[in-house]
Amino acid sequence: MPDFTTYPSLRGRKVFITGGATGIGAAMVEAFAAQGAVVGHLDLATEAAEALADQLEQAGLARPWFRRVDVTEAAALKAAIADFGAASGGLDVLVNNVANDTRHDPLATTEASWRACMAVNLDCAFFASQRAVELMRAGGGGAIINFSSINALLGPSEMPGYVAAKAGLLGLTKAFARQYGPDRIRVNTILPGWVVTQRQLDLWLTEEAESAWMEQVCLKQRIEPVDAANLALFLAADDSRMITNQQFVIDGGRV
Ligand SMILES: NC(=O)c1ccc[n+]([C@@H]2O[C@H](COP(=O)([O-])OP(=O)(O)OC[C@H]3O[C@@H](n4cnc5c(N)ncnc54)[C@H](O)[C@@H]3O)[C@@H](O)[C@H]2O)c1
Repeated sequence: MPDFTTYPSLRGRKVFITGGATGIGAAMVEAFAAQGAVVGHLDLATEAAEALADQLEQAGLARPWFRRVDVTEAAALKAAIADFGAASGGLDVLVNNVANDTRHDPLATTEASWRACMAVNLDCAFFASQRAVELMRAGGGGAIINFSSINALLGPSEMPGYVAAKAGLLGLTKAFARQYGPDRIRVNTILPGWVVTQRQLDLWLTEEAESAWMEQVCLKQRIEPVDAANLALFLAADDSRMITNQQFVIDGGRV
């Protein structure tokens, strides 16, 4: 693994990540903890969160704050962010990472399944940001990072709800960046390409699909969760202090 950068401004910064137990979220929990940040996260996957905390502790890092929360329950989501803020003495960074990319047939999609898709992929980012802004304003500023996807730009089939929600996050970024810029709150979007997480390996990443992907990208290597995490570190650190209202693609050159 290459030797990555340390950002002095992240030391002691209070960072909250949604969906932090596995995948890119877990890589961010680890990456921010390794920078000396105070990390909190939530997820449904309690066992994975415990295993991650043990792994960080064994590596000599602080055990992250964690609560099992379903992000589709807005009140519980907001309470978790507020409680982390109270326990840590504020909130500097929110990463809206949680998502569910389950494929669905547009014509078989019901009103309930559409709303459930929006709840986990878009609505929770709004409600988390709403609570975070209050805490960040009180602390003199902050950074919000929304995880969209290159699928918001490319619009693949079999996942219209996910695509629409991820496109919605681009708008949410702009709306919050404009409104809360005067409060020194920066808001940016990360749009990953195909990042090789365990879930992708288990569900979608066949040999055939991966060769097709490799044909389309400039860099013929897998994108690892840490690659997306490194971009989040930069967007959270003071090194990006004049960057807001932007979209950052990390896809090995697919788009
Ligand atoms: N992995 C990729 O190839 C890829 C590509 C483009 C965009 N992204 C985006 O990057 C982000 C992270 O991707 P990932 O692949 O690590 O995500 P993921 O689908 O593996 O899930 C992230 C985490 O969210 C948790 N989660 C799911 N539903 C939840 C709920 N209702 N309440 C609380 N937690 C819940 C899961 O347990 C998991 O730990 C997502 O926003 C995703 O859309 C990922």
